[in-house]
This record gives sequence, C-alpha cells and structure tokens, in this order.
Amino acid sequence: MKYFARAPGKMIITGEHFVVHGSFALAAAIDKGALVKAEAFEDIEVKSKELGLVASDIKVPHPLKPTIEAIKATLEFIGEKRGVKVEINSDIPASSGLGSSSAVAVATVAATSSALGHDLSPEEIVHLATISERITHGKPSGIDVNVSVYGGVILFKIGEKVKLIKLDRDIEFLVGYSGIERQTSKMVAKFSEMKRMYPNFFASLVSSSSCLTEIATDALTKNDLTTLGSIMSLFHVVLNQMGVSIEELDYMVEKALEVGCIGAKLTGAGGGGCIIALPKSGEARIVAEHLKKKGMNISIVKIPCMGVEVWKEER
Ligand code: PMV
Repeated sequence: MKYFARAPGKMIITGEHFVVHGSFALAAAIDKGALVKAEAFEDIEVKSKELGLVASDIKVPHPLKPTIEAIKATLEFIGEKRGVKVEINSDIPASSGLGSSSAVAVATVAATSSALGHDLSPEEIVHLATISERITHGKPSGIDVNVSVYGGVILFKIGEKVKLIKLDRDIEFLVGYSGIERQTSKMVAKFSEMKRMYPNFFASLVSSSSCLTEIATDALTKNDLTTLGSIMSLFHVVLNQMGVSIEELDYMVEKALEVGCIGAKLTGAGGGGCIIALPKSGEARIVAEHLKKKGMNISIVKIPCMGVEVWKEER
C-alpha cells in the first residue's frame, strides 16, 4: 500500500536567530511544502524529483543523507525490519529560509511510518525529523520542524511546550524571494559571534526579542496589524545590524514599505533567501503587483495553513 504525506514549509514572523539563544519566536506554516510517497520495500530507496537523485544507504555526505538517516531512525523507532521506497517532491526552493529541509524530513517520517502500518504522535514525528535536521543544519532550534508538524501559527521557545496560536480570521503576507541560496549553519555562526564579543549586550537583545515576540503574537491574534508590522520592521533593522541581512534583502524590505506594506523583514537565517511583508488588510494583491513590476519574485501566503497530513493512495 502506498501512503502520501504532505508537510508545509514555514515563515518566521519574529525571533529568528534569537530563538537559538533562548528567545520566543513566532512562526507560521505556509502553503508551499513537501509531498512524499512511501511504500514498504525490502531495502531503503529515496528518490528526489527536485534534485534528480536516487540513493539507498549512504555513508558519505550526500544531499539525500539527512532523509536516509531520518528513515533509518524511523524504522528503528517503530521496530520495523522492512525498508521503504520513498519519492520526494517539494515546491519550496531549497536554502531559501522557508523550511524546505524540515518539510521534507517531516513528510518523510510521517509517510514512512504510515506505509509500514504505524501511526506516530506529533511529538514522535518532531523527534525523528530533528535527526535529519541536525545533519542538515548542525544545531537547529527546532522551530522549523515543529511548525511543519503542527501547522497554523506557533509560539516556540527551546525547552518549552509549543503554543498553538489561534487566529479567528485569515491573514495575508507577501513572501519575496531573493533567489540567493545560503547555508543556515553559517548564518547562525555569524549571528552568534556577537555573543562572544558582547555577552551582556547580546543577552539583553535576546530578552527584548522574546518580549517583542510575545507582543507580536498578541497583536496577530487581535488582528492589530499596525503593531505587528512595526515589530516586524524593527526585527529587520536589528537582524541587519547583527550582520545577517544583505543588500538584496534590504532592497526588497525597503520597496515593500514604499508600496504601503505595514511591516517587512528578512525571514529565516538571512544572507539570502526571503523577506516577508505585511500588507494592509485587503491590499495583498495590489501591493504584490506593484512589487512584481519592480522585478521582485513575490507570492502571497494566506495563514493559517495545515500541518503535516497523511493519506492512503486511494484518496
Ligand atoms: O534555515 P532557516 O533559514 O529557515 O532558518 C532557521 C531559523 C534560525 O533561527 C536562523 C535557526 C534555527 O535553528 O532556529
């Protein structure tokens, strides 16, 4: 029997980087994601349509190694002797700050366990997908995997239970893609240099990030877009000062504000990847058109979006 799992990518609304050092961060699932098909097999075989690669067990660094390790961990966890044949399709650009590797890991774990007749809890999927994320990113905070599993909007802090944030209406954001790939682990290392040089100053920034993220969460739930947008823009300024923005991202943030967005910032690790911008209510389409005319690669994301879903082939 073939099983499918679809897991969403994410955008971090506030608190990226600071979250690695103990701040709250606010993130939302997006409508782009990874679709994984899995069926029981005598061995492990992984095929990625996007990468044009097929692999079985791999000992050396390889783009599919994190996925293979997540599968091996899943098989061991559920006590399964059989293997699995997995096919991955993702519509999230890799290394863009939109959680592509987490979405692949989450969908792979969920599809693998289901194809072999085991239902995993959300906590178990988070745990197993994190094994793959550690190979890809070193020491991730865990925010990407959690938002991909639970979906919707989450308030996340390392070591605390994930808070699911309820919205009573849909909210539209814009995502602007720079087309520049970068490595999360390098950007995390760059950001963390400041901690070594100015530990007390750094600690006060982490605590401010946490407070601002809680205020932003409250503003989001009350549909107070003005407060939310101001906090987003403030985060961009600080992330820029911390050395993780680049000219292309600053340019997109500037243009988004110029055409009337309430707030805009880089999202994810920076150094390339994407920005997000918050348009005024009902203005997403018009503002997106203005930005496209300026040559920007823009899409509209409506939140909240679903977390990981699994279904049998018949569906
Ligand atoms: O890999 P990205 O670009 O989605 O960034 C993840 C967010 C960081 O806070 C920079 C790192 C982390 O592990 O939380």
